Amino acid sequence: MNREYIINCKKDETVLDALRRQNITIKAFCNGHHKCGKCRILLDETGICEASYAEMRLLSEDENADGVRLACFSQPAGQDIDEIKVTILDELENDAPILTATGEPDTSHTGALNTFAAFDLGTTTIAVKLIRSGEEIYTDSRRNSQCSYGADVISRSEAQIGGAGTGLMECLRDDIDTLIDGFPVTPEFLVFSGNTTIIHLLMGYPLDNMVNYPFKPYRTGWIKDDYITRDGEEFPLRIIPAQSAYIGGDIVAGLYDCGFASSEKVSLFVDLGTNGEMAIGNRGRILTASAAAGPAFEGTHINVATDVVKCMASLRNSGIIDENGLLKDPYFDSGYPYDTGNSAPVIISQRDIRDIQMAKSAIRSGLEILLSRYGAAPHDIDRLYLAGGMGYSLDIDSALSIGLFPESLKHKAVPAGNTSLAGCIKYGLSGCDDKDIDSILEVSQEIVLSNDPDFSAKYFEYMLF
Ligand code: FES
Repeated sequence: MNREYIINCKKDETVLDALRRQNITIKAFCNGHHKCGKCRILLDETGICEASYAEMRLLSEDENADGVRLACFSQPAGQDIDEIKVTILDELENDAPILTATGEPDTSHTGALNTFAAFDLGTTTIAVKLIRSGEEIYTDSRRNSQCSYGADVISRSEAQIGGAGTGLMECLRDDIDTLIDGFPVTPEFLVFSGNTTIIHLLMGYPLDNMVNYPFKPYRTGWIKDDYITRDGEEFPLRIIPAQSAYIGGDIVAGLYDCGFASSEKVSLFVDLGTNGEMAIGNRGRILTASAAAGPAFEGTHINVATDVVKCMASLRNSGIIDENGLLKDPYFDSGYPYDTGNSAPVIISQRDIRDIQMAKSAIRSGLEILLSRYGAAPHDIDRLYLAGGMGYSLDIDSALSIGLFPESLKHKAVPAGNTSLAGCIKYGLSGCDDKDIDSILEVSQEIVLSNDPDFSAKYFEYMLF
């Protein structure tokens, strides 16, 4: 549903600037760089201003005819305006559901009598569970309002470096506070995990050196502090440590949840998203890596989200695309109308297929490098943990059919749910015992795939379907 607000707009501000200043969330996926066309709004006559050609090009014919505008282009007047009615057309609630599923909590630890809240701070979504005496008593989630500063961590890092750090921090804190406001009981402490960028944005740590050379985070270790809400409530806070810029506390929490600190058996862990983070190992030795998968698995170009893999498998099996990923005639130019079972078919373009080929190849090549550097073969693997929303609903047969994973892992794949959230719960239930997470970090080594001599050859090999 669309959202309506009355806002004020200062001289020289765009509507996007004004919305951000007034803490109103809007999908500004390109961070106001006039590229994504997502920040769609309607303005009343006070706010209306002439649309530029560049703005009109990002909108459809119907949208232009209906007076739809883009917030990052719209600059209502050269003077302060007290009241403009803005209708935001981004329909936040129609996005994919937020994954809050975790395994059964392990209550065999000393801290099990505590009441605490575990938060997974994701780039797109935030999920929370409240635990009391080892039982999950409350679950909630919401979209990460930092989408007003870009859809991904790169845009948001640039926004922070460009001076929007306070706005970014406030967005996230506001989301967390809103979730805390809904708690039926007051927790004794909070546990957070998130990727390295999101934690930096939350804490106001500078991202300059992570985005630019030497590409190092400002901080990766445990964060033990107090969290103070906008109403002045104070909670002891623990934030799960990261391994590096790419292997964040969310992945460390996931490895902890999946038993990498205790198991003798060697397993694989994969979290599919814009970055495919992965790990192999057991309690004695772990290798981690991150493969840049691009937007394909986040459903940016194909609006079928987790059906992406299924769709590719079906197109390949029916001969609509060949081994090289080329759409056969007559679909090469116009795209293939893929029937998702809901409303109108989705047009799959050659570019969409390329994005998926690249994402698939990045993940598969990363896994092959990890297996090889670990000295393991697929048959040595005990389990393949598939973390996150996409892993949870992934059709394994389709994933194997397009070569996302080695065939011999077919019966080892385990949809593991929101392992970042589950890791926070496990940590809280341990009575905040750092030992296992510290041991994961001690035995972990990151492989930088782009520096690996075999990565390019594997990447080209696995581009094929
Ligand atoms: S066009 Fe991307 S934020 Fe406005």
